[in-house]
Amino acid sequence: MSAATLLAVGNWKMNTTVQEAMALASDVRRRLEDDPPGGVQTVLCPPFISLAPLHDLLKDSNIALGAQNLHPQTSGAFTGEISPTMLQGLCRYVIVGHSERRHIMREGYHVVGQKVKAAVDAGLTPIICVGETLSQRRQGAAEAVVRRQLETGLSGIADPRHVVIAYEPVWAIGAGVPATPVVVADITGGAIRTELANLYDDATAQKIAVLYGGSVNPENVTAFLEQPSIQGALVGGASLDAAQFAQIVRLTAEAKGTD
Ligand code: 13P
Repeated sequence: MSAATLLAVGNWKMNTTVQEAMALASDVRRRLEDDPPGGVQTVLCPPFISLAPLHDLLKDSNIALGAQNLHPQTSGAFTGEISPTMLQGLCRYVIVGHSERRHIMREGYHVVGQKVKAAVDAGLTPIICVGETLSQRRQGAAEAVVRRQLETGLSGIADPRHVVIAYEPVWAIGAGVPATPVVVADITGGAIRTELANLYDDATAQKIAVLYGGSVNPENVTAFLEQPSIQGALVGGASLDAAQFAQIVRLTAEAKGTD
């Protein structure tokens, strides 16, 4: 359906010490090096403090790095924050608007949009997370929520070529039970593409990679990737296990026929 890049992204969240991160990244690299799956960009998103050591560790590999968040300003009196400038040169990707930040840290629509713009201005590729809560879904508001998150998240982006969207329904994250592929495809092929075409145009909308996230593991990933409107996975828990994550990368290539 599209020429969007295929992605397998591991979001380690607030897990791993620096030493554990280095061991996990080395293990993933080793497992993918023997017989590298073609056509899939592997991305690891460790905690901030592990970005520099992993950048050195992975510099000759095909594995890219991503941050889990950023501050919209380039510098200043923002104690404890990390700016886009600091990430430049250390990673190519940055997760923006993850539901844990939207709901636990109370990040609003507007600040997510500012962060997306700051990332793109710094030459980083934002992975913009969108997704409804269970109560929003029960109220029949899933599509409207996702479309509003896209509209506000992309409000400062004239050229979305270097943007990735991740559909992560909040109710499927860490739940052990993912959304069904049909429910996901309804949003990724429906509301998300429609809103992207609305904001830009049809051809542009087809070129933007849309990932699924929420309890993805090697057993269920293929069913999601068989949906033409899904170009990869954003993996939480299973990405902390090198064998499982490497398997997900391989299954991504297999499902899309790029290997
Ligand atoms: P789980 O895969 O642990 O459900 O996490 C999904 C997620 O939030 C990835 O960003």
